[in-house]
Amino acid sequence: KTKEQIKGYTYGEVAPSPFTLNDLELLKKTVLFSSEDEQYLRLAGEVLRDQVDAVLNLWYSFVGSNEHLLRYFTTNGQPDLDYLAAVRDRFGQWIIDLCTRPFDQDWLNYQHEIALRHHSAKKNQTDGVNSVPIINHRYIVAFIYPITATIKSFLGKKEHDTETVEKMYNAWFKAVTLTAVLWTYPYVHTNEF
Ligand code: HEM
Repeated sequence: KTKEQIKGYTYGEVAPSPFTLNDLELLKKTVLFSSEDEQYLRLAGEVLRDQVDAVLNLWYSFVGSNEHLLRYFTTNGQPDLDYLAAVRDRFGQWIIDLCTRPFDQDWLNYQHEIALRHHSAKKNQTDGVNSVPIINHRYIVAFIYPITATIKSFLGKKEHDTETVEKMYNAWFKAVTLTAVLWTYPYVHTNEF
């Protein structure tokens, strides 16, 4: 699907993030995210581009086989298949965006939008569903590990040497950590983030 065909994908069209680019620089330093990582993220984007569906199949089977996670996609206790499908398209776009978009003001703004979409502030609104009202904060943090660990085998599928795969993997790990941190913003008391 092209970006225009992804329902609810509003990159570049959302409200400004309360978090500043200056603070983002300090956060990048804190996770040791360098310009080399930026290059390896771009490479990861090329490697992952035609594997997005396979990655999503893996992640969705993980969520689907865990009742405590699938819960967040249920309506009246039943998995909401339309909701799962709509989010899947945006999730796929996110994989590519994370690897290819510059971490500029638009990127920061969309991170905040995604944060709100996990939080009670905005969950369910984009897809007009009546699912559970919030994804609990602990799972946002915990997801860093599965979202990172599962990507490695996909990064290794295009015949790059071990060192290159390792560099793409670390760049991905840092980028996922950064985004997960930004997505906790609405869950934290004002001035405590
Ligand atoms: C939405 C990724 C944690 C369930 C999304 C989207 C992405 C994403 C890319 C779509 C954003 C958009 O609308 O453009 C991630 C990542 C996570 C994470 C990278 C952690 C590092 C979780 C957890 C759950 C979850 C722990 C619980 C099962 C959902 C749901 C939506 C969503 C239900 C739809 C929210 C809505 O109603 O708009 N996630 N997610 N996510 N995610 Fe996550």
